Amino acid sequence: MNVGPAAALFKHGAAGANTVDFGTMSDRFHPRGHPRIRSAAIPGLRAPALRLFQAPSAAFAFAAAVVRNPRGVGAVAPASRWLADAIGRELDGCGCDTLVEVGPGTGAITRVLNERRREFSRVLAVERDEWMVSVLRERYSELEIVHGCATELARHVRSTAPVAIVSSLPFKSLPEEVAEGCIRALADTMDTAPGSMLLQYTYGLGSPPFASPAPRFVWRRVGLVARNLPPATIWRLDHVGTRTLTGAR
Ligand SMILES: C[S@@+](CC[C@H](N)C(=O)[O-])C[C@H]1O[C@@H](n2cnc3c(N)ncnc32)[C@H](O)[C@@H]1O
Repeated sequence: MNVGPAAALFKHGAAGANTVDFGTMSDRFHPRGHPRIRSAAIPGLRAPALRLFQAPSAAFAFAAAVVRNPRGVGAVAPASRWLADAIGRELDGCGCDTLVEVGPGTGAITRVLNERRREFSRVLAVERDEWMVSVLRERYSELEIVHGCATELARHVRSTAPVAIVSSLPFKSLPEEVAEGCIRALADTMDTAPGSMLLQYTYGLGSPPFASPAPRFVWRRVGLVARNLPPATIWRLDHVGTRTLTGAR
């Protein structure tokens, strides 16, 4: 059945052994709740009806962002816990100094980055949507949450030591000029810091999220996660010839 994004969130929201984990939905329905998330205020909220939601869950922020900007979000639901954990495993032994997430949404994957934050000198997340930034700052107060656009990644990450980039950017639905700007920014960051890597997931089994930005880069498929809505493929972009400790499959 083809359900709308918000309907899909709530239809599958209850946490259980065999349910897809929406992370933030299970937070909402957790018996003890998540006071920090529930107390998050939405900046710029004006419509009186919406003020009822001054204490939104992360799930509400996600659904609202989908309604406001479906192409910018490009997903019907946050990443599952299985997808987040699989992406986390790809960071094992990566030898990177900085960890940056672009397009973290409400933070389903950020959870794993937060758990591993002590393995890196710096961990930050760059999100364009103001509501999501608000939720992320409530959920992950230990992390540096930047309200900004991935096209300006170079302003936020100037490292010459290897950078691990985790991206949830919806390249296949973003406007072309934004997608191109993001790809350029990702490639520039990787070129500035040799040994860097990019992890990105796509839905289904198809092709990489975008064509290799230059012949010096190469994509590899490093994971398939069936327990996600929809099932997802994890892709990794490296400089050609980079010998990696992980994922050389
Ligand atoms: C697929 S959603 C992220 C889902 C996230 N992995 C989760 O599970 O909650 C894509 C996110 O990318 C953000 N985004 C889109 N374009 C962006 C850009 N140019 N810079 C930064 N964030 C962007 C959207 O606001 C949205 O939060």
